[in-house]
Amino acid sequence: MRMYDIIAKKRDGGELSDDEISYFVHGYTSGEIPDYQASALLMAIYIRSMTKKETLRLTMEMADSGDKVDLSMFENTVDKHSTGGVGDKTTLIAAPVAAACGTTVAKMSGRGLGHTGGTVDKLDSIPGFSTSLSADEFYSCVRKIGLCVTGQSGDFAPADKKLYALRDVTATVSCIPLIASSIMSKKLAAGSNSIVLDVKAGSGAFMKTAAQARLLAEQMVEIGKGAGRKTIAIITDMDKPLGYAIGNSLEVIEACEVLNNRLKGELYDVSLELAARMIALSLNISLSDARRKAGRAVENGSAAKKFAEMISAQGGDARVLNDYSLMPHAGVVYQLRSKSCGYIKKMDTEKIGTAAMMLGAGRVKKEDKIDYSAGIILTKKTCDRVKQGEPVAYLHTCRPETLKEAGDEFLNALEFSDSPPKMTDEIIGEVT
Ligand code: URA
Repeated sequence: MRMYDIIAKKRDGGELSDDEISYFVHGYTSGEIPDYQASALLMAIYIRSMTKKETLRLTMEMADSGDKVDLSMFENTVDKHSTGGVGDKTTLIAAPVAAACGTTVAKMSGRGLGHTGGTVDKLDSIPGFSTSLSADEFYSCVRKIGLCVTGQSGDFAPADKKLYALRDVTATVSCIPLIASSIMSKKLAAGSNSIVLDVKAGSGAFMKTAAQARLLAEQMVEIGKGAGRKTIAIITDMDKPLGYAIGNSLEVIEACEVLNNRLKGELYDVSLELAARMIALSLNISLSDARRKAGRAVENGSAAKKFAEMISAQGGDARVLNDYSLMPHAGVVYQLRSKSCGYIKKMDTEKIGTAAMMLGAGRVKKEDKIDYSAGIILTKKTCDRVKQGEPVAYLHTCRPETLKEAGDEFLNALEFSDSPPKMTDEIIGEVT
């Protein structure tokens, strides 16, 4: 087999065989196939796309290219994945709720990069909490409490890691079959039987429109099912940040408010819907029963208790659940006032995520250090009426020199109208 022929076949719109895809993934991962040939194939795929069969095969090959988590000794394992957004702390809520209802959540999460946050950074802001567990520690935590959320420790889907880095510099990232196979290869390697996907759509998301998000969701669900995993997706709104807190410690506190049954609204709604989907899928019960169970777990405190157990099992101080003074707090809290008036018509959510990153809540480069206390508390969101000079947000940081730039970025993200804009739903659609 020759890489040259594989590139030419895809360039001419042909369907690659299983053997050709396998040859490419193995050859590129081992270093035998050079970057220039892999780049040419990626560009041909970008232009010609891939069939469902090709996409599934590529995903399976990438999932098999490295370590895999073996969860076969556990029952009702369920994973959740979000395609990323601003203020998305749903894992901190949905995972303990689902575990409190009898599912097993053994989850590997990622760090934030650019304008989007990552669950691992949020958990790392809890004093003492460890997200770098050994395999033994991970399994022991799952066995003991049915819930563990950690960072990636093994070499999962190395083929995807290498290909993603190449896509990043060859303008081939925004290709739905390549994105779907990249995400799903890591989910398959993570070992859960059931997978619930939260595909975000809007200005703060990877997929800017609901139509694009649906296409991605459909392909990922298809891959999951093709690989023998129970998989569903919901499409949720990322045209505004989720909830009111952005930034690691601030988001943990907001998640605790939901778990402590003190905060309802869009964050509660999206998190509980995700939890209900996780419960329904893994326990094989109806969605309405699963929703009831999830709601009850918040009301009766069992979800908060589960989160506390996980924090303790991973070395953290579980008292944070009820004593937020134990979480990192910023040296400076700046009240940001609106220069305009009217109804907030649109929030450029990527800009708002960037403003939080400028304050220290995120990284520009992988190596950057995070200020866990940094972030933004919104006081106004889309559809709210704002008077000139009224506070629209509080900026939290330990780096006061960032306030001007971050404040300007935030204010530039807001678009105003004279009349109230139409409210949009948080849950835009589903793919089952
Ligand atoms: N996230 C991934 O893991 N892969 C992609 O291709 C895009 C987003």
